[in-house]
Amino acid sequence: MNIDWQELRFSYTETDYIVRASFHGKWQDGRLVGEWGAPHATRDKILPMHVCATALQYGQEAFEGLKVFRGIDGKIRVFRWQANAERMARSAEGLYMAPVPTALYGQMVQMAVHKNKKFIPPYETGATLYLRPLLIGTTPKLGVGPGWDFEFIIIPSPIGPYYKEAHSNRIPCQTFIVNRHVDRSAMFGTGHFKVGGNYAASFRGTETAHLQGYDCLFMDSRYHRYIDECSAANFIGIRGNEYITPRSSAILPSITNDSLMTLAKERGLKVTRRHVRLDELNGMSEAAACGTACVISPIDKVIDPDNNITYTLPQAPGPVLLGLRNALQDIQYGRAEDKHRWCTVIN
Ligand code: PLP
Ligand code: COI
Repeated sequence: MNIDWQELRFSYTETDYIVRASFHGKWQDGRLVGEWGAPHATRDKILPMHVCATALQYGQEAFEGLKVFRGIDGKIRVFRWQANAERMARSAEGLYMAPVPTALYGQMVQMAVHKNKKFIPPYETGATLYLRPLLIGTTPKLGVGPGWDFEFIIIPSPIGPYYKEAHSNRIPCQTFIVNRHVDRSAMFGTGHFKVGGNYAASFRGTETAHLQGYDCLFMDSRYHRYIDECSAANFIGIRGNEYITPRSSAILPSITNDSLMTLAKERGLKVTRRHVRLDELNGMSEAAACGTACVISPIDKVIDPDNNITYTLPQAPGPVLLGLRNALQDIQYGRAEDKHRWCTVIN
């Protein structure tokens, strides 16, 4: 093993072990009944699967993402794995898959960390160990409908910052371009679940934006008037003393956003979740995308090509969001008291 921690980006680096567990059951009176087997760690990263597995045929797949930090005190901290487990259970139910019980999820997170301790980057590097929990349907089926066998896998990978320049302690700004011709998800669709299909569906927007040198801002699918999500991250805007973030049935309830809202309230900010019109960017002093991978990534400009308007954010990165970013990272790295018990210390 020879990893240059400073060179890590948000990409896959293989570790020693993944952790797996299988569910086998059946559908009975509209309910999935069955049992999860004991989890096991394996070095084998190849998954033999039937070509008709429901994950492959009908997209029965959900995933998650969470980070493991090496703190200033040398301790290992996993950030909000319970919130992660709950969100995955909602995604599983949303796609008629077997939810992973929280206790099993926690046990497997612990195993994944223990078995791959040497892949947790040192404190000073700013890199972390990312865990990618993955749930897939493995029942061979051609008839359209949910399966009854599932595989839950935790895939660890050390990662660096989501955006390149973030290593030199400069937090890079992102420019977003509005796309009203591609919707990531529909109003009563699966946008609030973390399922692979949403990401495949978003590529027409995100890859087009990348070719132009931007990231994609998704709008609400009904009116294309309100901000939904910033590529694969939630949107936050600051106006005066107010922290504003979209309320929408089509966006993923971000655990980072939830944590930042708590910290914002503690700092005396007013936190508002509501529909956010694009032209409200005019009144905002700061805006950012937020998520596990990027934490907070400031937005310097938003381009609306349909109306030939460019919104320029006056202060990016601005003091309010930078303060919140630092407050969150201080907790994650053990530099500040963890009042909300967000971190699980693993020995
Ligand atoms: N929105 C989407 C579509 C995402 O994929 C993610 C990443 O998980 C987020 C928002 C941010 O969520 P979280 O803060 O829980 O990582
Ligand atoms: C995040 O973790 O913030 C994300 O946006 C998820 C993505 C990398 C799949």
